[in-house]
Amino acid sequence: MALVEIDGLRKLYGDVVALSDISITVPSGSFYTLLGPSGCGKTTLLRTIAGFHNQNAGQIRVDGTSIEGLPAYRRDVGMVFQDYAIFPHLSVYDNVAFGLKQRKVPSAEIKSRVGEVLEVVQLGAFEQRMPHELSGGQQQRVGLARAIVIKPKVLLMDEPLSNLDARLRVDLRAELRRIQQDLGITTIYVTHDQEEALAMSDTVCVMYGGVIQQAASPLDIYLRPANRFVATFVGANNFLGVDQNGADLTLRASGADLSDLLSSAQRPVAITSAIRPEAMHVQAGEAAASADRVAIPASIKEVSFIGREMEVFAITKSGEILKSVDRPDPAIIGLTPGSPVTLTAPRNEIIFFEDSETGERLT
Ligand SMILES: Nc1ncnc2c1ncn2[C@@H]1O[C@H](COP(=O)(O)OP(=O)(O)O)[C@@H](O)[C@H]1O
Ligand SMILES: [Mg+2]
Repeated sequence: MALVEIDGLRKLYGDVVALSDISITVPSGSFYTLLGPSGCGKTTLLRTIAGFHNQNAGQIRVDGTSIEGLPAYRRDVGMVFQDYAIFPHLSVYDNVAFGLKQRKVPSAEIKSRVGEVLEVVQLGAFEQRMPHELSGGQQQRVGLARAIVIKPKVLLMDEPLSNLDARLRVDLRAELRRIQQDLGITTIYVTHDQEEALAMSDTVCVMYGGVIQQAASPLDIYLRPANRFVATFVGANNFLGVDQNGADLTLRASGADLSDLLSSAQRPVAITSAIRPEAMHVQAGEAAASADRVAIPASIKEVSFIGREMEVFAITKSGEILKSVDRPDPAIIGLTPGSPVTLTAPRNEIIFFEDSETGERLT
């Protein structure tokens, strides 16, 4: 069942179109992530749902009811911010109790609810601490406790982990997901970090330029990007030019014939192809193509060995820079820039896009 339904939402700041015709459906109890680069409209969408400002057009329904015109404090949403936004002069307990006192909840109930929520976020022993006596991760748990203690229908989180250091971010990511699932709370989460989005979400909604590019499961977003933007932003694909000549379709970097992979009827004027870095295998020197693999001659730009895998950047004869992520191979790790190599990839992992920033996928 849909808990949050957004229809044709539009938001302008002066003549900047921050959101253009946004329509999404967030299933009850799910973890729904808005993913996109800085400036794509994520915060604007979250703040519009929270009621911090009005939209120019469109509808938001929660639990089947329009929340048009309702002020933020009556919208039944909890919000967690990037910069924690907790009161510096209040103890952990008083920070979490704040929203309940405002709602005139009886004090005995406040005590038990704050106690319960602090257990959930593992801050049971920290009730009397002041915010300056807490680490960043602990402060963000207070922010979360404060948002969930009011038992909102919807929990909104705007890049809650981005001020934390890398290790803590990964730990807290798993914990946020666990808490969300334990409580079954419908969550709309904002991040610009694709790995975070894929790891945490039931649905990932990729945004760019105030427009939804694709909303799907993490696996679908990764394996079946709807357009070139999604393919670039999630998983950093390699793009390889293709040339069309009559009915022929060839890979510019090697001259390989790809005509059988994309029918003439499916071909717009400008086409590009993409291959994932983990589908590309690198070998030293020259190597021939086979029936099921293309072989692209290139020269080494940079090799980095990062433990369980190696990352190789190589330049093709047509000037494209390709990335391969592969098992560490001593014969490659020792190569210096300029060394000749061949990149091979399975033909059936080549996908095609119309060649524009958000050009749609053709295969
Ligand atoms: N208060 C504002 N006044 C004018 N423009 C704004 C304001 N807030 C955001 N914008 C613009 O709206 C667009 C979307 O911003 P925002 O929602 O903050 O993006 P994100 O959270 O994805 O980084 C950007 O172009 C941004 O510059
Ligand atoms: Mg933002």
